[in-house]
Parts: sequence; structure tokens; C-alpha cells
Amino acid sequence: MFLISIKALQRNATILRDVRDAAGCRLILALKGFACWKTFPHIRGMFDGCCASGLWEAMLAREHFGGHIAAYSPAYGEAEVEKLCGFVHHLDFNSPGQWLRFRDLVAQQPRFRSGELQCGLRVNPEHSTGSTPIYDPCVTGSRLGATAAQLEDANLEGISGLHIHTLCEQGADALESTLEALEARFGNILSSPGIRYLNMGGGHWITKPGYDREHLVRLVRETAAKYDVEVWLEPGEAAAIHTGVLRANVMDVFESAGHRIAILDVSATAHMPDVLEMPYRPDVFLVEKNAEPESAAPGPAVTLPGESYQLAAGSGPHVHRLGGPTCLAGDVIGDYAFPRPLTVGDILVFDDMSHYTMVKTTMFNGVRHPSIALQHEDGTVETIREFRYEDFECRLS
Ligand SMILES: Cc1ncc(COP(=O)(O)O)c(C=O)c1O
Repeated sequence: MFLISIKALQRNATILRDVRDAAGCRLILALKGFACWKTFPHIRGMFDGCCASGLWEAMLAREHFGGHIAAYSPAYGEAEVEKLCGFVHHLDFNSPGQWLRFRDLVAQQPRFRSGELQCGLRVNPEHSTGSTPIYDPCVTGSRLGATAAQLEDANLEGISGLHIHTLCEQGADALESTLEALEARFGNILSSPGIRYLNMGGGHWITKPGYDREHLVRLVRETAAKYDVEVWLEPGEAAAIHTGVLRANVMDVFESAGHRIAILDVSATAHMPDVLEMPYRPDVFLVEKNAEPESAAPGPAVTLPGESYQLAAGSGPHVHRLGGPTCLAGDVIGDYAFPRPLTVGDILVFDDMSHYTMVKTTMFNGVRHPSIALQHEDGTVETIREFRYEDFECRLS
């Protein structure tokens, strides 16, 4: 079960809203990171709208969030552009070629002529600040955003915004050096009177303890004033970090060549693919029922009454290799040491599982999909979605 805390979501959203207000910028939720729309009524007041990766996310934003909708996709098709022009407010293109292809179509739209729809271009400042290539849009040969060289003879008439997204789980110092690279390569475009907005993308770890929010506020204010642009931030992870968990059941435990294996009813590849892609190692807690919670011990993002939580260690006497129920040999979450041997029926809690999990899940192998539940502010738990065989069947034809 994915269990999401409304209180934790509101805590993050409040921090983001306060940063937005202090910086005088605009704030939109990146649906690619978190799109559990039944939570939207609880947080939408803190955002100006959503950013969408294409038509379907934009439709979800219109139907369930409201407010401003900014769309960006590495490539649009004609039918998609036609539909998006009908209701989004920012339509950002990835290359001068895409803009050239759709410029006339967009120019005919009454919403574009009235200024209700503005178009932007994603640019690549070619300044890498991260260390994980799969999450670095500035790698050499990147397909994300136009480089200064690609824009040399480009006709940008009709473009009124620039969009960058280069950060991933980073601080304001990474944004500062990125803005310097942006200025060095695209300062002339940014300074031109036709440019009215700068979208600084996501990847700002704003709600993480230790993030220097004052630094971000200063950078946003300085940039907005220098180029006379409206600045937009579109966080995904920062909105949903530490707001949810994935609860799993131990289905089998056995020995294999000296390794103690625990097969769970959740899968790395189907339910938390970033564990394999990024890769990263989530924190795992063993649930003890009918136990007094240990107040000093750190717990997962969402806890339930009558349970205590023991954080699994990297090494120790009771190491288990946690694996999923799919056929993928590498469907392994990792080796974790527990305070006691695991047995069938034990419950494990994977921490921090709201962002980039639920949006990426698959039904590979027809594995039973985790249900989705909300923990409301008064502590009550409401299951908002349970998956059935028919949900699996209807995805395939
Ligand atoms: C264009 C764009 N905007 C915003 C985001 C959200 O980033 P994050 O969830 O790291 O804040 C992403 C994430 O990949 C993105 O590609």
C-alpha cells in the first residue's frame, strides 16, 4: 500500500508557498513527480498551478488542480499542440525546429493573440551540477533544451519565455552557478524585450532540511529584476519528499548460497523503479505491532497507531536480501539487517515513496498493484484506490 500523509504534503506546500511569496515568483507543481490528484484539494491553494510533461498531464492539471498550466515536452505532435493551445498558459518547446514547425499554428490561436497563451523555449546552459548522468540534462549530446550553438541563427520571434531544468536534488549554490552559465550563454536573449518569463524548472531541494531558502529567494529576486522577467519554479520532489511510504508484506523467506532472501509483495522494478535506475537505497523499517513507539527513534514519513518501527541497518546479524515478486533476476531492493529474523507476514515500510514512485509504477508480470491510501489530518486512513484484475487487463488492449 502507498500511504500518503496529507499533513506532510501540506507542510511541504506551506514551505514552498512561503518561499514563493518571499521571492515574488510563481510556483507550479511538477505532476511528473507527484500526481496523486485526490490530494490536490488539500494543497492546491499553496500553488499557482501545475507543470505538465505533455497533453495528458496538462488535462489532469485542468481537471483536478486548476490555475496556471505550463507544458513542456521534448517533442510535440501536431494534434497535441492543437489541443494544448486550447487551455495551457505556457507552452514551452524543446528546440528551435519544434518552434518553427508549430509557430504558424500557434500564431493563429486566439488565446495566443490575446496573450493568454505564451510560448517559451527550453535552453541548455551546458553546466552540469550533478553527478548522476541519467539525471543530468546538461550531459554532452543532451536531447533536452537548445544549446547556444543551436540557436545561433534561430528566429525566436513569438517566443516570450526561456525554460531551464538542470538540477536534481540540489541546493541554491547549484542554481547560482547555473544562472551564471545561463547568463554567459543566453544573456542576450534573456535581456531582449520580448522575453517576459524565465522558468527555472525543478530539482530545487527547497523542503529538505538545510536547504538555503534565503539564497534561493535572493537569486530569484536578483534575476527577475535584472532581466525584468517573471520567474517560475516547478518543483516535484520538494513538494512530495517525506510525505509517503510503501508498505510491504513478507511473502517468503529462504536461504540461497549463504544469502537470506525475503520475497515481498512489492517490487523494485514495478513499484519503485528509481531504486534500480538511479540507483538508490531507500530506508526500510520493520513494523512491530502492539508496541509502544520509541519516541527518540527516527520513524518513517507516515506512521500508524499501535505500531513501532525499527530502522534496518546496512550490516548486522540478520541480513536479508529484499526482493520483489517479478521474474526479473535483478528485482532486488538491497541487503538490509533487521533486529530479528524476518518471517512470513512481517510488514516492512519503505520510506519516502510518494515522489517518482506512484507516477512510474507498472503492472509488469501482472503483479498485484499496491493500493493507495491517504492519512488525513485527524489520523484516519482512507483507501482511495484498490486495483483489480480488470485494471491490468484493460492496459493491454
Ligand atoms: C522540466 C522539468 N521540470 C520540473 C521537474 C521536477 O523536478 P524535481 O522533481 O526534481 O523538482 C522535472 C523533473 O525531471 C523536469 O524535467
